[in-house]
Amino acid sequence: MSVKLGERLQAVEEELRRWREEGETAVFVEESTLQVVRDLVRSSQPKREPAAPSAAKPAKPRPPSRVRKAAAKPSLPEPPVLAIPDGDKTMRLEWLRDRVLNCSTCLANLNPKGKVVFGGGDSEADLFFCGEAPGADEEIAGEPFVGAAGQFLDKIIKGMGLAREQVYVANVMKWRPQHDNPYGNRPPTQDEMNFCLPYLKAQIEIIQPKVIVALGATAVSGLLGPDPQRRMGKVRGQWFEFEEVPLMITFHPSYLLRNESKRTKRQVWEDMLQVMEQVDLPISERQRDFYT
Ligand code: URA
Repeated sequence: MSVKLGERLQAVEEELRRWREEGETAVFVEESTLQVVRDLVRSSQPKREPAAPSAAKPAKPRPPSRVRKAAAKPSLPEPPVLAIPDGDKTMRLEWLRDRVLNCSTCLANLNPKGKVVFGGGDSEADLFFCGEAPGADEEIAGEPFVGAAGQFLDKIIKGMGLAREQVYVANVMKWRPQHDNPYGNRPPTQDEMNFCLPYLKAQIEIIQPKVIVALGATAVSGLLGPDPQRRMGKVRGQWFEFEEVPLMITFHPSYLLRNESKRTKRQVWEDMLQVMEQVDLPISERQRDFYT
């Protein structure tokens, strides 16, 4: 593929990703536009010499495509019903971690080298950051937000005057959604998130944070349910409730990685200032002015 076409398609992909983060779930593309893309792709492909007619060679069986090679995924059962035992937070969280790490549905949906990702941090945390699903780095580490997006999240937490160990970080999904592409992540489906939701609810019930921060549109759909009318541009910076805990919606750190504008960083920072006020964290003048 020519560099120019590759760059143009990448720009389109980035824009579509930005829209997804904003809450768009579908786009309408004119047939004439699709035709332009098809023509561009076709014209960028190297011309093949017509194959010389060969003496009746038996056709080689085609190797199975990636899609056909992909193992059939088990369909999801009903979401788990949990009866959290009595005890202190540490003991209850350990009980839950054990349940999640041994969840047969989670295990059946893992990539070959992947791990179930429970979540981690301070069981006494006031702040609970909730992402959508583990990515490639997280499924290997078995920990949430350890890749590039995680490093950005760490910066945000540090800006709030906290260390990662002082908050709790988890995802709606406890496994990385499988897909057939060689790289990238697939956003979880609503069914997948609904299956995992009781685990997240139990984490929140045990930890009892003062605030939950939902990171990105997919996490919001997992927590509040899907809403085609919802737009991140409208709901970010607003307070909602999840399981009677105040819920602040903000952009996903990976959106910030792709969209390095000061305006977007300031928007996220203003959301975090609201969160800091809600949990009575001290805010210096310097902190108030970040990204202005
Ligand atoms: N993105 C998420 O939503 N969660 C992770 O753990 C990593 C990336």
